[in-house]
Amino acid sequence: MIVGLPKEIKDNEYRVGLTPAGVRALTDAGHKVVVEHSAGEGSGFGDDLYRTAGATIMDSADDIWQQGDMIVKVKEPISPEYPRMREGQLLFTYLHLAPDRELTQQLLERKVTGVAYETITDRAGTLPLLTPMSEVAGRMAIQVGSHYLEKMSGGRGVLLGGVPGVPAARVVIIGGGVVGTNAAKIAVGMGAHVTIIDNNLGRLRELDDIFLSKISTLASSAYMIHDAITQADLIVGAVLVPGAAAPRLVTRGMLKDVPDGAVIVDVAVDQGGCIETTHPTTHSDPTYYVEGVLHYCVANMPGAVPRTSTFALTNATLPYALKLANKGLIAAIQSDPGLKAGVNTYAGRLTYEAVAIDQGLEYTSLDEMLGGTTTTAKA
Ligand SMILES: NC(=O)c1ccc[n+]([C@@H]2O[C@H](COP(=O)([O-])OP(=O)(O)OC[C@H]3O[C@@H](n4cnc5c(N)ncnc54)[C@H](O)[C@@H]3O)[C@@H](O)[C@H]2O)c1
Repeated sequence: MIVGLPKEIKDNEYRVGLTPAGVRALTDAGHKVVVEHSAGEGSGFGDDLYRTAGATIMDSADDIWQQGDMIVKVKEPISPEYPRMREGQLLFTYLHLAPDRELTQQLLERKVTGVAYETITDRAGTLPLLTPMSEVAGRMAIQVGSHYLEKMSGGRGVLLGGVPGVPAARVVIIGGGVVGTNAAKIAVGMGAHVTIIDNNLGRLRELDDIFLSKISTLASSAYMIHDAITQADLIVGAVLVPGAAAPRLVTRGMLKDVPDGAVIVDVAVDQGGCIETTHPTTHSDPTYYVEGVLHYCVANMPGAVPRTSTFALTNATLPYALKLANKGLIAAIQSDPGLKAGVNTYAGRLTYEAVAIDQGLEYTSLDEMLGGTTTTAKA
């Protein structure tokens, strides 16, 4: 297979779809990899590293899209990329089609096979290609939170770990999943006083086993959230209700009781946020105040650390990219129902039901299209 690696062109996107190590794995498996000139620059990978790994460097994005049987990317294609997509081409990337009618139509009209990172599942039913970015964002939440707690950055001037004779900062993490757990690890490591709130008691038991006495856990309710945040220096929003907007667990009214200069990092902003006063911000203008509380609500936090994020993402995507390249789409999804769940568009049909429902478009079962050949495989 010829695998194409274009440079990302979305504003402020510095990640890239394959590391040089990923290119080496593909070329070792007998595939040809064509890489757009300076595709990896934003993540610290020069053309020479890709060339040494066996890639052919090409000057224009058009050539990459023209040659690639499979295009490996990070972000969904944007309008300059639409005309480059070809019938039958395999596009392996984050797609997030539900809110994007135009891209969905483009993929359907151009009969592109769109395999979306965000809908691939693993044996446990979780989303393995979303996890790495949640790990990055969770760890970053404490890093940026501690920065904005500094007086010069607009916070209340509190050191996360305190010092002997002065109490540590209070960090309240709402949601104890991937983001919340990774935030807790960094906050505990910096010596903060950490409380995790979740509505899943089983998850709270697991967190209690992981962190022992280093954190407090609280069952989620409006009362307990209000009580916890009245003493918080840093609040991290990390809830997720799969397939739904985030519940607004901290109300504007509650913020009146949060100390002035406290910091909120609402990581759940990409699902609308779990704080009533959250609205999305960008890396170039990341913060604002409501009721004296500093809000940081950047919707693509991993974009600030593209090198780490590219490594983390491609560690997770490469096994699937290799499977698709080695076996071809049909054999690959026959052998892996979790990968099949990633196929959102195929031969001009919308094959992911939730996207079809959201957009009011016709859904076609991939199994029906392929004559039932994909239903027999076991995870
Ligand atoms: N801003 C960014 O750059 C960025 C990056 C990565 C992830 N995210 C977002 O962060 C959010 C969390 O992701 P995740 O991977 O940790 O999800 P996850 O599913 O691993 O964890 C979510 C947790 O929220 C808990 N929860 C659900 N409802 C709750 C409630 N009412 N009260 C308390 N807890 C509740 C769940 O029990 C679960 O433990 C998602 O919205 C995700 O899209 C944002």
